[in-house]
Amino acid sequence: RPPRPFRVPLPIPAVARPVRTDATTDFFEIVQRETDQEILPGVRTPVLTYDGTFPGPTLVTRSGRRAVVTHRNDLPVPVAVHLHGGHTPADSDGYPTDLVEPGGRRDYTYPMRQRAATLWYHDHRMDFTGPQVYRGLAGFHLVTDDEQDALGLPSGERDIPLMITDRSFDEDGSFSYPANHHGAGVNDAHMEGVLGDVVLLNGAPWPVLEVAATRYRLRLLNASSARRYRLGLDPARTPLVQIASDGGLLERPIEHSTVLLTPGERCEVVVDFGAVGPGAELTLRNSLGSGRTADVMRFRVTGRASDDSRIPQRLSRIEPLSADRAVRTRTWAFRRAATGEHPGWLLDGRPFDPERIDADVRLGEIEVWRFTSDLYHPVHVHLDPFQVLSRRNQGAGPHDKGWKDTVDLAPNESVDVAVRFADYPGRYLLHCHNLEHEDMAMMAAFRTS
Ligand code: C2O
Ligand code: CU
Repeated sequence: RPPRPFRVPLPIPAVARPVRTDATTDFFEIVQRETDQEILPGVRTPVLTYDGTFPGPTLVTRSGRRAVVTHRNDLPVPVAVHLHGGHTPADSDGYPTDLVEPGGRRDYTYPMRQRAATLWYHDHRMDFTGPQVYRGLAGFHLVTDDEQDALGLPSGERDIPLMITDRSFDEDGSFSYPANHHGAGVNDAHMEGVLGDVVLLNGAPWPVLEVAATRYRLRLLNASSARRYRLGLDPARTPLVQIASDGGLLERPIEHSTVLLTPGERCEVVVDFGAVGPGAELTLRNSLGSGRTADVMRFRVTGRASDDSRIPQRLSRIEPLSADRAVRTRTWAFRRAATGEHPGWLLDGRPFDPERIDADVRLGEIEVWRFTSDLYHPVHVHLDPFQVLSRRNQGAGPHDKGWKDTVDLAPNESVDVAVRFADYPGRYLLHCHNLEHEDMAMMAAFRTS
């Protein structure tokens, strides 16, 4: 019953309009509610939504202007909203026990003292992030700024956000999430993370997008629970030119034939469909998938059109956080419990305790954080982005460039990153962004002061 691929047009999430705006601030309102949505053709799927759609509306805000987003919770479950990649004061960061109860509302304040980047917002409720994001609680938040506007990159209709998720469906069309009914997390068969057999782009199965024979900016986001993707065009007639990563612009564009995307990561690429010309079709495939999960979406090149966009060879400047200036090295081990009462995933040998502080960090100081792993773990740090220094004492990999907030750890990996936190004292998280690992307590709290 799954639809044939490359039939459904790619939906683009609506851009949220501010309800009010003044000299310093844009105000938004989002109602979280249940509804149903046609995801598979002809079938209604019950979804949890931000403002009635999955993905939620895209917020577009300006660097240096404050955004206040009021969330009203009309869902039957508590929620916490996290802006992933946001440089956010602690009381608006969506700490997992800092909940908006059903019937409640809350203002989240985002000062937006950060550069242009592709951020996303999603649920972060303690123990239930996996199922609540799976059922639909995720959306884009794009930050813009003058530096990026001046570059002449493809924009408007040629700037496409692409949220990639994998989902499974029950016979009646509802999402099939293998929850563990005895508490947080999933049943034993899905301990390693939940993988779906239908690939959704912006909530549509294996869609198709008609494009002109010109350049397009694609903002790739992996919002899946646990699936990693290696994306490439088939046929590979034109490269994926990476211009930005999690934390915004790279210094210089990088040409890739494929890009790796671990859960939580963003990668922005420019694709020149002019290189293939009208009539061509290019399929985005996932070489880490098999069968249906090897297909992602298709681009159908229609006609020629004028294009004055460019990809400057110099995109931005990134201050290197050098390890020489680091005041200490901390190690964070991402490993499964060997045995014992705790069934799941541990960070530094223990499960997350929301009341415990696992590290104290001084604002403004550079530290080296060494992440080590047993299996694949996408490691995410809140508050500020970091720079990847090395992998197992080799240089950083081709997808590690620029400001990152989520980094792919392979099995038995060791990755050194340089962190430096600024501006906001308080309690923040680092965790595995495999959402099932996260719900099974692979998370830690650090306190900035
Ligand atoms: Cu995208 Cu702590 O999460
Ligand atoms: Cu993990």
